[in-house]
Amino acid sequence: MTQDSAAPSGSDLRDLFEEYAQVYRFTTEALPHAAELLPDVIERAGLGAHMELLDLACGTGALEVKMQGLGILGDVTGLDFSESMLTQARLGCPEARFRRADLTHPAATWGVTGPFDAVACILGLNVVPDPRHVMQGAVELLAPGGVFVEATPHAGSDPRLVWARHLVMAAELGRSEAEEMAYFGPALVRIIKLSQMASQVQHFPTQAEILARHADAGLKVEYLGSTYADQATLVVSRKE
Ligand SMILES: C[S@@+](CC[C@H](N)C(=O)[O-])C[C@H]1O[C@@H](n2cnc3c(N)ncnc32)[C@H](O)[C@@H]1O
Repeated sequence: MTQDSAAPSGSDLRDLFEEYAQVYRFTTEALPHAAELLPDVIERAGLGAHMELLDLACGTGALEVKMQGLGILGDVTGLDFSESMLTQARLGCPEARFRRADLTHPAATWGVTGPFDAVACILGLNVVPDPRHVMQGAVELLAPGGVFVEATPHAGSDPRLVWARHLVMAAELGRSEAEEMAYFGPALVRIIKLSQMASQVQHFPTQAEILARHADAGLKVEYLGSTYADQATLVVSRKE
């Protein structure tokens, strides 16, 4: 584990995610993630049971759990380098496959062969040292005509606005701020610490940088928008 003041290395970052997996899973239930970000991803990318899907940096399997809940889970494989994240994912969605893989290594080592109809990376390209490397791997594994979807916190994103959106959505469901704080508060405090430590290695791209990344990977952008309380850019592109 690293000191708060020092930039964490790759293995320190994995240790962080290992430690926070349970609490991370809990916070993916918060409304902007479960009720806004994931439905936006699924709808904009047209994800469904008919396609073979690869989920990069799948974490605790929030996307798989959501698709399972909607009854649209097909053949899905999630990859992550944190075994405790994968444990949570397997608990939440036993029907999907979850494998340990370090996305900083070549795609040939990820343990999947493809071709996949769709590859997703949700809140993941910001925490890897080289997002272009991961996208290159995604493109290698995509079938011609396959869809790539990413949601990545944008430059200047502010997690406090995600929580503010959560409170608005909760109020619409008749849930008070006090109730939400009692339920999510202790987990949020820990997740804020995680994101502060991780932010020393994170990059928050501009839309222009994201578009250039897709073009350079040979992907044609079909949708560019905003989600997650307007704190993340959502991009859907296609391998030609
Ligand atoms: C913020 S979480 C996002 C999880 C999930 N996609 C979601 O939307 O809830 C980022 C995930 O990236 C994983 N991760 C970070 N670096 C990685 C790497 N080099 N290889 C594989 N997974 C990595 C972490 O373990 C963590 O589960």
